[in-house]
Amino acid sequence: MPHLGRKRIPRKVVMRTSTKSIVHAAQDGGYAVGAFNIFDGLTLRAVVHAAGEKRSPAIVQVSARTAKALGPRFLARMFEELAAGSDVPLSLHLDHCPDLELTRAVIDAGWSSVLFDASHLELAEAAEQTARVVSWAHPNGVDVESEIENIVGVEDGVGSDALAHSYADEELVRVARETGVDLLAPHLGTAHGQYKLPPVLLPQRVSHLRRLTDLPIVLHGGTGLKPEEFRSFISAGVSKINVSTAVKHAYLDAMEESLGSAREAGRREPLPILGEVERRVVDTVASFLELFGSAGRAGGER
Ligand code: 13P
Repeated sequence: MPHLGRKRIPRKVVMRTSTKSIVHAAQDGGYAVGAFNIFDGLTLRAVVHAAGEKRSPAIVQVSARTAKALGPRFLARMFEELAAGSDVPLSLHLDHCPDLELTRAVIDAGWSSVLFDASHLELAEAAEQTARVVSWAHPNGVDVESEIENIVGVEDGVGSDALAHSYADEELVRVARETGVDLLAPHLGTAHGQYKLPPVLLPQRVSHLRRLTDLPIVLHGGTGLKPEEFRSFISAGVSKINVSTAVKHAYLDAMEESLGSAREAGRREPLPILGEVERRVVDTVASFLELFGSAGRAGGER
């Protein structure tokens, strides 16, 4: 073939750390890694900056609704750009996704990991679909978090307020082993969103599951828990903690306050307002990193 003078463009490789390796390092070190739901470039940058400021690993997490709205490839490119400029371990994770097609698109876009949410399905179907996701994900170097029991509460249009499926610990571990998943999200008494009543928390379930399996255990519904409640989950063996509502509230509260003062002062410049919002989100994320014991733990996971 004659050379036509066109340069071959190398296939782009997404810069990322494996979620599994970040979370296993946390499990070994006795702390938890925060997974923070972002919904735009500002919140994505804020999580990356907070992790850098605190010398902490962190997981940038995206709801299925946000992944659909912004597109898996666009989000992967934004993440890649920011992660390349950071020297702490960061991964990009798809949160609760019951949609096989979107899960596949995220795997193809080169994200670090996905949470395939099969909690609305009966056990046999949940196991079959989860195993199918693992068979797509693993050959592409993508880790899989599994949820076959539902975590109560609706978040970004996914979930239910009633506990529909729950299983014995042994059954949960058996399905996780058979499907080959990398992280396990059991029901632990927490719920997504703000608590209406004090939750009945189940750190003892984490201790029992940890005796049955080495799979990292994920705590959902981080917003609204007290520091001592986080500590009891972490000492029982939780190594990934999800926080979404607190990020949204920090963003919206700061936005309202900054817009209010700009209006009073007659200022009509968006960038200073967005700068204040970003600072508030950075501080919020940073305070969770301190609480989870991951500050100062950025290590050799890459
Ligand atoms: P919160 O919105 O309660 O922080 O829960 C986040 C979560 O678990 C995302 O999966």
